[in-house]
Amino acid sequence: MCSASADDNSADAPGQSRRELPDWFGPVAEDVIRYCRPKPGLWVDIGSGPGGLGLALAGASRSACILIEPDSGDLERAVEKAGNLGLGQRVIPIVGRAEKIPLPDSCVDLVASRGSIFYWGDPAEGLREVYRILRPGARALIGGGFGTSYPAWAYEEFMARQRGHLAAEGEEALRAWDEPRSLESLRAAARAAGIEEALIDETPPGNWLLFEKRGK
Ligand SMILES: C[S@@+](CC[C@H](N)C(=O)[O-])C[C@H]1O[C@@H](n2cnc3c(N)ncnc32)[C@H](O)[C@@H]1O
Repeated sequence: MCSASADDNSADAPGQSRRELPDWFGPVAEDVIRYCRPKPGLWVDIGSGPGGLGLALAGASRSACILIEPDSGDLERAVEKAGNLGLGQRVIPIVGRAEKIPLPDSCVDLVASRGSIFYWGDPAEGLREVYRILRPGARALIGGGFGTSYPAWAYEEFMARQRGHLAAEGEEALRAWDEPRSLESLRAAARAAGIEEALIDETPPGNWLLFEKRGK
């Protein structure tokens, strides 16, 4: 299950007033589409959790979206939501991990992943796998963020809550949160995966790797 302290839009620290923050999946899906310019076809959300980004992508397109997620309970929730949204025919759940994606080479038109690479056991292997399944010319956006159109007040409130939780746990918790999310760590994983040359520098706000599969 997706960790509440990591990415929950209503998580709150004891004593703080609770205010529901707006959903960020629509704004992130807009960024994915703007920066990846995917062809319609087969799209993938890796580490989908209960489907927030993958369902937003399916809802904004006519593409099919594969959700790859190790937690089968999260996928069950995603499938139920997809049915309620009328997206059931275009959302395909697969229990799996980024490091061993159960799909053939060069078969998908987009890979997106939000808030997940920071938890992968082997981020470089996961990135190699993402690159492997992309069709030539297709792009991936992997990392974390809230989307260009996400309101600044909500972003600031989320970060204040999040850092408040972490600070209460101590310096080590703050470091363990920040380190995998740094651009240096993400770029180091891309380098270790052998895909540094495929990186595109202009990314949406947040900590993202944007890359395009080489070749024809
Ligand atoms: C913080 S949640 C983010 C979920 C969702 N993408 C979102 O933005 O709300 C991290 C997700 O990554 C998944 N995850 C952890 N390790 C993974 C791996 N090796 N490969 C793919 N997903 C993984 C977790 O099960 C969890 O659903």
